[in-house]
Amino acid sequence: MPEPEFDLDEFVRQVQSSDKYSHITPEVIRSLLLKEMQKGKNGKEIIKSTRNKLHQIGSAYQEKPICYNALLEELQSLPSELEDPVVKAYILKALGSHASTRERLPILPRFFTETLQKIPSLHSILDVACGLNPMSIPWMPLPARFTYTACDIYEDMTGFLNDFFTHFNIDGKAQTCDLTQNLPAGSYDLALILKTIPCLEQVDKEAGYRLLNQLNAAALLVSFPAKSLGGKSKGMVQNYERHFLDLTVGQSWKITRFEFPGELAFLVQK
Ligand SMILES: C[S@@+](CC[C@H](N)C(=O)[O-])C[C@H]1O[C@@H](n2cnc3c(N)ncnc32)[C@H](O)[C@@H]1O
Repeated sequence: MPEPEFDLDEFVRQVQSSDKYSHITPEVIRSLLLKEMQKGKNGKEIIKSTRNKLHQIGSAYQEKPICYNALLEELQSLPSELEDPVVKAYILKALGSHASTRERLPILPRFFTETLQKIPSLHSILDVACGLNPMSIPWMPLPARFTYTACDIYEDMTGFLNDFFTHFNIDGKAQTCDLTQNLPAGSYDLALILKTIPCLEQVDKEAGYRLLNQLNAAALLVSFPAKSLGGKSKGMVQNYERHFLDLTVGQSWKITRFEFPGELAFLVQK
């Protein structure tokens, strides 16, 4: 990309001066700013449209800011067994604070057991654009020993997820990333790409194709929302199914389709 005529670091600071965007990794903000700067807009317009994009891809899923300090305080008073009913009640409440995991709550007892039951090995999991989904681990059919790698654009979210992993002795690591620029390194038994493709494609039309083709994982669980955040569902299953088929056309992968209330999922085995 050509050098911007604006002071990029100062623009990043301005975007982050709003609480809503202050915890988003500068990597993402910088790349969105650069895109907006190339459209010949003035400074104010650049900040405004960058914030709008950040809202669409991230903040829209957090109607209220998630209070990680409160979640952490409660976490520290909990037992360290994930199966403990008090722990599960805490997790369910926390999952409700992010729209994407909240929508999955009614199907959580089925979602991972049904989609993952045929995978021969689940020792290494990658969860991209994870939101709070790593907290769903107790509902996943995982073996006694596994590694869990997660990434999203929020520094406070990934920081909290690392505290969550530590508290429950999970061999996990969460970090910030910008999936429109870099894909996580490493190889995995399973990559979770849950309700991520439509979100990333708002910024980069090729992002979904790259995730499906370039992540180094033996299996991918890919899902799409069957309803918008506003609750409308008209044609979404058909449209996303068509889009997924376009993205995978010509591949010899084994694909299994699952339709749940609120979420359409595909298990891809490479
Ligand atoms: C629809 S939510 C899905 C969350 C989670 N996968 C789930 O299904 O519960 C989309 C997530 O993508 C994240 N995200 C948006 N743009 C991203 C990017 N460029 N790189 C990584 N994560 C991104 C958002 O912060 C948000 O948590």
